[in-house]
Amino acid sequence: MPIYLSGEIKETVPKLKLDNLTPRQIVAELDKYVVGQANAKRAVAVALRNRIRRQKLPPEIAQDVLPKNILMIGSTGVGKTEIARRLARLANSPFIKIEASKFTEVGYVGRDVESMIRELTDVAVDMTKQAAYEEIRERAEQNVEEKILDILLPSSNNYSFDNDNSLDLEEKLQPNRTREKLREQLRRGELEDRLIEIETQDRSNTMIDFVGGQGMEEMGVNLRDMMGNLFPTKTVRRKIKIAEAKTYMLRDEQENLIDMEQITRQAIESLENSGIIFLDEMDKIAGRESGSGSPDVSREGVQRDLLPIVEGTNVNTRYGMVNTEHILFIAAGAFHVSKPSDLIPEMQGRFPIRVELESLTLEDFKRILIQPKNSLIKQYQALLKTEEIILEFTEDAITTLAEMTVSINNNTEDIGARRLHTLLEKLLEEISFLGSELENKNQILDSEYVKDKLEELVKDQNLRQYVL
Ligand SMILES: Nc1ncnc2c1ncn2[C@@H]1O[C@H](COP(=O)(O)OP(=O)(O)OP(=O)(O)O)[C@@H](O)[C@H]1O
Ligand SMILES: [Mg+2]
Repeated sequence: MPIYLSGEIKETVPKLKLDNLTPRQIVAELDKYVVGQANAKRAVAVALRNRIRRQKLPPEIAQDVLPKNILMIGSTGVGKTEIARRLARLANSPFIKIEASKFTEVGYVGRDVESMIRELTDVAVDMTKQAAYEEIRERAEQNVEEKILDILLPSSNNYSFDNDNSLDLEEKLQPNRTREKLREQLRRGELEDRLIEIETQDRSNTMIDFVGGQGMEEMGVNLRDMMGNLFPTKTVRRKIKIAEAKTYMLRDEQENLIDMEQITRQAIESLENSGIIFLDEMDKIAGRESGSGSPDVSREGVQRDLLPIVEGTNVNTRYGMVNTEHILFIAAGAFHVSKPSDLIPEMQGRFPIRVELESLTLEDFKRILIQPKNSLIKQYQALLKTEEIILEFTEDAITTLAEMTVSINNNTEDIGARRLHTLLEKLLEEISFLGSELENKNQILDSEYVKDKLEELVKDQNLRQYVL
């Protein structure tokens, strides 16, 4: 029975690469989820593609090709974060989205900006590890199978019969036969409920988690690792069903098979060359020092701390030094109150590509309601479907909804597509409440229904301000 050992696995772990998508394909992919905003999508797609192009250059040039960071400007609810979210799933590269407003200047209580690099490193290591787990999954599963068979049929039954002449060949082969029979049953899933006793590593380091909670990580120290060495992982014996045992054993087996050092190396390489950080709420840290005692002081401080990271510096993480020079930064903000020119000049220069997201139009709202994969309406339909309610919107209902959205956005505050959430919630309140109690399982909502439910609210200035 072959049991694979970690030494046998060499460069099988795939190198993490940015998807081989062309800019056009990236835009097409984003189009499935985000309506309009062609410029922003293009800019992001080109930036992504340029990372791949750079990696094909000879090292002397590649070293000097720095990423062109992007600043996305657009009022609230027009899809800035949505683009980032979709990009994250799309780009097969280490990616984090983080609010710039979360940080505080070094020396103050709170998160310092370097913590985002540490976070990104964790993401990269995890990604690489998951990829490696997949790569060795088959071997690990084979090992698990053998181990389960060993438990079901302990090897004492398996002793060598070679010198035992009292048994004929038939009987000598018996244990092997039993083993193969069990194997077949196991594969057919017939033994899933049988209880076996296994030894697994105890991962419930609750005490350590408690001690090393938030804040410790900020110091760049990994308490868990330190404590982990002090208290080596316990193994626990437990009696569980084979079905469940398989999951535990598989994880243990995968952990044994991978080479953590190699994974860390690959992860850092991949993050240094293709990591992306999305800095949301960038406008919240714009604003320069304006007299003593104002909260703006620390905003500028945060910007100053950010500068070296965006420009390229080495950050100490628990996996080693990480160079940030080629990490792509995409910043976004509404910039209503502050302007990009309120960022300190050095910072402005670090984000050479500016894209403006357009305000959403009536047509956009209509499309946002129905077009994207998992659009709002599709979500409600799916939710109600669980109670056998078929929800349908007529075309004029959609138009009316979009018109109302535009009208409210114009008359109160413009919160973009977010308005659709509040409107729809209100519109479907009754249907959602009654749910399965509804007599008529086929709910067709037309323009009349929408007006009936919402028109009063939209007209009444006071009500509108609170409810919608
Ligand atoms: N262009 C769009 N296409 C599809 N959905 C959109 C679009 N714009 C906004 N939405 C929807 O509206 C909601 C809010 O959008 P998002 O979070 O992207 O806003 P934002 O631009 O980041 O705003 P803020 O400045 O307030 O952070 C999301 O649920 C998103 O699905
Ligand atoms: Mg946002």
